[in-house]
Amino acid sequence: MGHIVITGASSDIGLAITKELSVLDKPMILHCSKNREALKEWEERATIISADFSSNSELDFFISKLGDVEILVNAAASTDTNLIPYITSESLNKTIQINIVAFTKITQAVIPKMCINRRGNIINISSVTAKKVYRGQAIYAGSKAYMEAFTKAIVAEYGKKGVRSNCVAPGSINSGTLKRMGSVTEEQIKQLNAVGKLGSPKDVAKVVRFLCNPDSSYINGTVIETNGGHWMGI
Ligand SMILES: NC(=O)c1ccc[n+]([C@@H]2O[C@H](COP(=O)([O-])OP(=O)(O)OC[C@H]3O[C@@H](n4cnc5c(N)ncnc54)[C@H](OP(=O)(O)O)[C@@H]3O)[C@@H](O)[C@H]2O)c1
Repeated sequence: MGHIVITGASSDIGLAITKELSVLDKPMILHCSKNREALKEWEERATIISADFSSNSELDFFISKLGDVEILVNAAASTDTNLIPYITSESLNKTIQINIVAFTKITQAVIPKMCINRRGNIINISSVTAKKVYRGQAIYAGSKAYMEAFTKAIVAEYGKKGVRSNCVAPGSINSGTLKRMGSVTEEQIKQLNAVGKLGSPKDVAKVVRFLCNPDSSYINGTVIETNGGHWMGI
C-alpha cells in the first residue's frame, strides 16, 4: 500500500489535512521543520520527519525516506513578505529554496514510482496570491504561481501514466501565515472576501480530502479555490 506524504504537516492547514487524510487508513509520513511538537499526537500513528528544506542535506535526507508514495500533499512553504525595495537576498533565496527547489525535488522524486504503480495523486497547496498579488507578496506569490504551473506540467507529462495533480488555493484562512501578518487586522482581512469571514484550516483540508476521493478522479490539472468568494468581496 502506498504512503501519504504531507509536507508542512506541522502548520495549522497541514495538521487539518493530516486529520482529514488519516481516515484513508494508509501509512502516513508527516513532515515538519522546527515545530515537531505540533505533530506530537501523531507520533504513534505516523512517521514524522523533521527537515529544514533550506538545507540541501536535510532535503536530500527527507527525499531518501519517501519510498512508495501514493498521495503527496505539498503544504510546506516559506511565507516571507516584504515590499520590493526591502526584499533581501536571504529572503529571496529562502523562498526559492523552500517553495520552488524543495517542492520541485520532492515532487520529482515521487513521480517515477507513481508511474510504475499507475496511481499517484499530488495535491499542492497554492494561494489566492498566485492570481492576485497584494503589496509585499512579490516573491511568495511568484512561488505559488510557479506551483500552479508545475501542477499543470505534471498532468501534461504524466496524466496518461496514472498521475493526477491539482492545486487547492486558499484565501484568508485563520492559520499561521495570517496570524503573522501583524500589520493587517482581522477586520480588514474579513472585508477581502464576499462572505465577510475567515476560512478555517478544515475548509482547506476538506477539499484536499475530496481530491483523494475516487469521486473526484476526473478533476485533474486544476486549481480549486477555497476562498469564500475572495474575488467578489472588493
Ligand atoms: N494561512 C493562509 O491564509 C494561507 C493562504 C493561502 C495559502 N496558504 C498556504 O497553506 C500552507 C500552510 O500555511 P499555514 O498558514 O497553515 O502555515 P505556516 O505557519 O505558514 O506553516 C508553514 C509550514 O511550512 C513549514 N516550513 C516553514 N519553513 C520551512 C523550512 N525552512 N523547511 C521546511 N518546512 C518549512 C513549517 O514547518 P514548521 O512549522 O515545523 O517549522 C510549516 O509546516 C502554506 O503552503 C501556505 O502558503 C495559507
